[in-house]
Amino acid sequence: MSAGVRVGVIGMGNVGPAIASSLRAAGARIVGVSARSAAARDRADAMLPGVPLLTEDEVGRQAEILFLAVPDGQIQAVTEHLVASGGIRPGMVVAHLSGAVGLDPLAAASAIGAIPLALHPAMTFSGTSLDVRRLQGCPIAYTSSELARPVALALIEYLGGVPLRLDEADRPRYHAGLAHAANHLVTLLVQAQDVLESAGVDGPGEAMRPLVEAAVERALTEGIDGLTGPVVRGDDATVNAHIASLEADPELRDVARTYRSLVQATRVALKGDSAEPLVLHTREQLRRALEDDPRPTSLVMTMGALHAGHLSLVKLVARSGHKVVVTIFVNPEQFGEGEDFDSYPRTLEEDVAALAEVGVDIVYAPPVSEVYPHPSRIHITPGPASTTLEGALRPGHFAGVLQVVGKMMNLIRPRVAVFGQKDAQQFVNIRQMVEDLDLPLELVQAPIVRDEDGLALSSRNAYLSDQEKVQALALNRALELGREVLDGGGSGEEAVTKIADHLAASPGVEAQYVALAAADSFEVAALWTGGSSSLGVENLTVLQPGSEAYLLVAAQVGPARLIDNVTVRVKADD
Ligand code: PAJ
Repeated sequence: MSAGVRVGVIGMGNVGPAIASSLRAAGARIVGVSARSAAARDRADAMLPGVPLLTEDEVGRQAEILFLAVPDGQIQAVTEHLVASGGIRPGMVVAHLSGAVGLDPLAAASAIGAIPLALHPAMTFSGTSLDVRRLQGCPIAYTSSELARPVALALIEYLGGVPLRLDEADRPRYHAGLAHAANHLVTLLVQAQDVLESAGVDGPGEAMRPLVEAAVERALTEGIDGLTGPVVRGDDATVNAHIASLEADPELRDVARTYRSLVQATRVALKGDSAEPLVLHTREQLRRALEDDPRPTSLVMTMGALHAGHLSLVKLVARSGHKVVVTIFVNPEQFGEGEDFDSYPRTLEEDVAALAEVGVDIVYAPPVSEVYPHPSRIHITPGPASTTLEGALRPGHFAGVLQVVGKMMNLIRPRVAVFGQKDAQQFVNIRQMVEDLDLPLELVQAPIVRDEDGLALSSRNAYLSDQEKVQALALNRALELGREVLDGGGSGEEAVTKIADHLAASPGVEAQYVALAAADSFEVAALWTGGSSSLGVENLTVLQPGSEAYLLVAAQVGPARLIDNVTVRVKADD
């Protein structure tokens, strides 16, 4: 770019005068500027003596390089107006100075063959001559076509800035980063001054200046390594005392909220890229961690020995903007006499490592004494969906499940809780509890995850030998055959019989029941029990045509008791 190039600047707010004045000092000819308000005209007079004040159209007509130093929201309208009036012509350079937007609002200019540029000096402007000096060495983010890049670089050099290339798509993110730093820092410092003032400190700004200036300097040079204070020392007592003292003053409640959420953000920043969840063992630790993170909670409850089925539940809510809490607790209340409570696999370390991979914030793995400090005196009594099938074979099982699920929901107060279809009867019982006790949360049911051969994943598959795993495939195969019967117009009874026959012919598999049950109420419409017992089903129900139902099996395979199901849609009355 040659000296004497004709530059025009539209808008004499805080930025325009500094741009014009810097380019003028670098040898450009400022052919004219335009200003809408009296204050803007005064600024132009003060900083650009001798430069003509013209209309916007006239500035455009005189310039080879035109700067639009107008508010972000006006760039597009001004561009379109100038294109229509001849103020912007083919071949001329049109640059705006916004950080938030790229070349989009200049589309009308590029459509007629003008060269659009987005240049954003990353500083705040005062509208005084101080700005010209501060532009020296200031980063200037630019977005341009490849062809116009040399023009952008030349202009930035003229302005004394340091070029920083930005893709159009990255501009909102870039601008968010700057605003977060420069704007929210002001909010934070104003809050902090209020706090000092409420503690009787006169001139709080000056009182905090040395600390703040040093902290900013450290943050900019050392990043999170420059952090000092109670959070980095792990001094929870001091942090809690701070929060308590802020909360004690109604006028500082907002500050308390910001403080809490910044404590949380600081902890996350200290953890760095590692997505290690917090692993907590007591309700007190849990209470504090939940309080520290103001986001709503999504809950996934498990008994551990996690597999891809459990992780699929977590993935449904991971990165949803909620904090994700996973409980790992082998709940004694849901195991009957002679069941596998003692031998149930416990693999906390591997579980936490697996959860870290899918984005979990908190793992709550309490000991039994923490969940049941004394034997429960009050029990949640499950309804009719708890007395059949699993409930009949495992008396007290669903009462134990609802007890622990109810307790965890009250402790964790999730907005969303996810359970698997794998335990379909459990899901129906939990849903009835949530509905009947008005628990304020949304329940999500996750589909069954199977291995590539169709075996439903289960922590209890760990009990199976390789041969038994192959034998266990009969469960899913039989359910698929039953589904085919229903799809082909067969009755529920025929489907159930088909499944039972297939299982009877499968070596190593001892079926306990096969059933067809309504998905909403869990009322049983067809049942095979092997003649052993009624399984709590007194009357068979008739499913509504078009309604959803489960085909379910339970079977012993070697040492493991396995359950599986598929959903079916009822075609005709069964
Ligand atoms: P657990 O058997 O560990 O299962 C935890 C959750 O994972 C349940 O919601 C279950 O339905 C789901 N799940 C298990 N296997 C699955 C698979 N293959 N695909 C998809 N989801 C699967 O269910 C319990 O623990 C407990 O009864 C509990 C609810 C935690 C209460 O103690």
